[in-house]
Amino acid sequence: MNRNDQSVLKDNMLDNKKITEDILGEGKLIEGDTLSILNKIDDNVVNVGVTSPPYNKQEKHKGWLVKNVVYDTYKDAVPESEYQQYQVDVLNEIYRVTASGGSFFYNHKIRWDRGNMYHPMDWLRKTKWTIKQEIIWDRMIAGNIRGWRFWQVEERLYWLYKPIGDKLIGKELKSCDAKLTSIWRGVPEDGRKNPHPAPFPLWLPARVIISILGTETQGIVLDPYIGSGTTAVAAKLLGHKYIGIDRSEAYIEMAGNRLDNAPSEMLKIREELALHQVQDTFKNRKSKGKNVGKYRSIDDESEVIQSTLFDQ
Ligand SMILES: C[S@@+](CC[C@H](N)C(=O)[O-])C[C@H]1O[C@@H](n2cnc3c(N)ncnc32)[C@H](O)[C@@H]1O
Repeated sequence: MNRNDQSVLKDNMLDNKKITEDILGEGKLIEGDTLSILNKIDDNVVNVGVTSPPYNKQEKHKGWLVKNVVYDTYKDAVPESEYQQYQVDVLNEIYRVTASGGSFFYNHKIRWDRGNMYHPMDWLRKTKWTIKQEIIWDRMIAGNIRGWRFWQVEERLYWLYKPIGDKLIGKELKSCDAKLTSIWRGVPEDGRKNPHPAPFPLWLPARVIISILGTETQGIVLDPYIGSGTTAVAAKLLGHKYIGIDRSEAYIEMAGNRLDNAPSEMLKIREELALHQVQDTFKNRKSKGKNVGKYRSIDDESEVIQSTLFDQ
């Protein structure tokens, strides 16, 4: 580790539950195993999290899932039951460190091994979280001309919620987010620009943070598999504190360098902010007899067309 600043911590520097809001400063990157580091975070500290864990892609056999994704420090191949149990343990620790009313967005995908389907819901239902929504990420990648199934172009995001008391539903989304739907279309990060093997595109954690925390009140954002630091960069540029964990010294270094240069990525944050701009509330629109987004077929020309929904 060449970085010698206060923003980077290591597992052996920390005692259990010692990470509190007070020691975070603008945020911390922490090198170590996710589960072990989560143990070091105090209860109810985090407001929102987003992550993409390793997918247990079994590269040892055939690289059947995503053969170009090869991590720095370890082989992403353990028995599937062990992998799923570890993910349950990690998600339950994230639940503990998240404040009631907080959310966690978990990016994963459907996988197959010799004809058996592994679906993320197989282990998500074993965690303490309330599963609020399944979002499809249409990655808009090119199709393939052969394969055993229709070419898988999507991944999933699971919006997990920690209820306040027994109220499972939580707050309504803000009107300004009303343009967004349960399908998120956006290309993955360009591998020529980011040397990490599987980085988020910046818009993705930015969308989560803007939708859940907004930009006015400072919150704490967690990514327990921070990789090249994308979630931390989004949090910082949107005015929030971050906690990012990764076992790879090289990726922590990469994330730290990226955070130092975060202002250079502001344009992408502005592009995402521009999508969260419906100002008129549902109640206002209804009282003025404006379109409130009731479903209408797109070839129905009889009345106001759908595209006027977001006119201000
Ligand atoms: C899919 S990548 C995350 C990439 C990240 N979203 C980004 O934008 O760069 C998963 C990351 O998890 C890290 N990782 C895998 N297993 C880990 C573990 N047990 N503890 C901590 N980090 C781990 C890998 O080093 C890798 O950087």
